[in-house]
Amino acid sequence: MPPRIRIAESYEAMSAAAAEAVARRLAARPSLRMLLPTGHTPLGMYRRLVEITRHEGLRWDRAQVFLLDEYLGLGPEDPGSFRRYMAEHLLRHLNPAPAVDSLNGRAADPGSECARYEQALAAAGLDLVVLGIGRNGHIGFNEPGSPFTSRTRVVTLTADTRRANAPDFGGDPEAVPPQALTVGIATILEGKEIFVLAAGAAKAPAVERAIQGPLDPAVPASALQRHPRVTWFLDREAAAGLDPELVPAGVGGGGSGAWPGSEGRNRGGAGRD
Ligand code: F6R
Repeated sequence: MPPRIRIAESYEAMSAAAAEAVARRLAARPSLRMLLPTGHTPLGMYRRLVEITRHEGLRWDRAQVFLLDEYLGLGPEDPGSFRRYMAEHLLRHLNPAPAVDSLNGRAADPGSECARYEQALAAAGLDLVVLGIGRNGHIGFNEPGSPFTSRTRVVTLTADTRRANAPDFGGDPEAVPPQALTVGIATILEGKEIFVLAAGAAKAPAVERAIQGPLDPAVPASALQRHPRVTWFLDREAAAGLDPELVPAGVGGGGSGAWPGSEGRNRGGAGRD
């Protein structure tokens, strides 16, 4: 099934659309098991989710949150760690809080930690996976060349990823940890539903190759073509490389796109909103 593509006029509108979709999933299923990303792109989504939680009384106490990845060597107290990011931007604002699990970047045996996490994810059963995408097409820290069969494991980051993430480490790519623990591509594909967020012109080539290119481990996000229930939340710049035929007519109003064949704000389509 082709992915659903929602294109917003701005980063804020893209973030709001993604947050509202996550909130709807959680409201419909309070015990939602979700795998969530860090990075710059989802910051607006988390801001909006916190607002929705405050103003609309969205409850998280029966939900379970898993984090997608973590730098090897960093723990929850380290400023650059993804666990710290998530605490700051989402978790500390949720009261009562959801159950949270994440990869421990300081585990004495990172291999066993990955096996533990893989088991925890399988036992929970992921309802929703939310992803960003790297300029090089990575999802999680599954860098180009990662097999589509990959599971949670220790990986080595590319120079491009370390450059892209340098702003979180004082601007120095060398200060970005060279390795990380990441949920694998096969594990991601086991989620029942997947959202992918991308904003800005720098992401346009990766978005285009992931959606329209061949299935190719050189573009890890192209593996998402194998999943039957993927929604891309894009701003106009990130969507610039997409074939206009693929981009639904009527995009724009209210900052959202639509499935081909559905109407307005994506209300159509077999209960998929
Ligand atoms: C984050 C992650 C990465 C990012 C990607 C995009 O947990 O796993 O795949 O989603 O690198 O990062 P930003 O959003 O900073 O451009």
